[in-house]
Amino acid sequence: MKKLPKILLIITLIGGSLVYWIQNQPPPIDEAARQAGEQLATKGRDNIPACTTCHGSKGEGNFAANFPRLAGLHPDYIIKQLQDYARDPLQTGVKLEPIARDYSKTPRIYSDLTVYTPGTRKDPIMNNIAKALTPTDRKNLATYFSTLPFQATPQPVDFQTLERGADLALRGKPEYGLPSCDSCHGPDGKGFGPYFPPLAGQPPQYLIDQINKWQTGKRDNDSLALMQNIANQLTDGDKMNAAAYFSNRSLIVNWK
Ligand code: HEC
Ligand code: HEC
Repeated sequence: MKKLPKILLIITLIGGSLVYWIQNQPPPIDEAARQAGEQLATKGRDNIPACTTCHGSKGEGNFAANFPRLAGLHPDYIIKQLQDYARDPLQTGVKLEPIARDYSKTPRIYSDLTVYTPGTRKDPIMNNIAKALTPTDRKNLATYFSTLPFQATPQPVDFQTLERGADLALRGKPEYGLPSCDSCHGPDGKGFGPYFPPLAGQPPQYLIDQINKWQTGKRDNDSLALMQNIANQLTDGDKMNAAAYFSNRSLIVNWK
């Protein structure tokens, strides 16, 4: 009788470890989706050009032409970007049912909260390509590119630029309430989950272009305007220093 609790304890420990191990395995790759994604990405279809002609044969991007890398990005981030590119900028206002409220009692709730704007991403090339994709295409392409391995090639950067970039990446500008880039984009800017894309391994000019697009209203698809508020505070020098710093990072771990 005395032995029984011990056996139960051992069974619980082994069982618990097994459940923990299973839960922490990366989700299994949907092989059919990956293959369909590879086919579309490398061969294209009808009016859809092969993604690899611009984004690189292994999704590694193109530093000379500022085409971003897609290899190793989180699949949900890829799907979200393709949806945002495809969205018609004139149809962004999604009207929700107005909720009857007594504004004299809740003065801080404004009626304009009933309009929700999901945001768009303007780009002459990607807008047309994304519009031609079906939801299944997006999922397949995301499965394919997210499972491609990627290793960044660190770019040489002069010491002063690197130091200034590191300051923004690791410290931000606390005196202006600007958080560090890495606090959202992960250590070494390697990306964090589906909402915070990697900055490391992207062409530096691509990173600068994106911040410029936020500053000029061509990109406004970030959740809670998180990146909008950062972009608004960056000077031209900040953009160059941060982009150079992230292009110098070598340690890349994919989203998994
Ligand atoms: C003719 C060149 C070209 C082709 C072909 C192309 N792209 Fe792009 N792609 C671009 C450019 C340029 C950008 C950056 C646009 C911007 O500034 O928003 C981009 C951006 C993206 C992004 C955003 C990446 C990020 O980090 O936010 C995704 C996702 C993407 N492309 C997916 C695709 C897929 C999937 C295909 C194939 C169906 C494809 N692209 C085909 C040129 C191309
Ligand atoms: C408060 C969180 C937060 C901080 C801090 C932050 N970002 Fe971002 N950033 C985001 C989010 C969210 C996105 C993705 C928006 C989307 O969904 O399209 C993003 C996207 C970007 C992109 C576009 C990447 C791509 O692949 O298209 C660039 C470039 C960028 N951030 C640069 C920076 C730099 C440089 C800093 C530091 C000065 C910084 N960010 C700090 C939240 C943040």
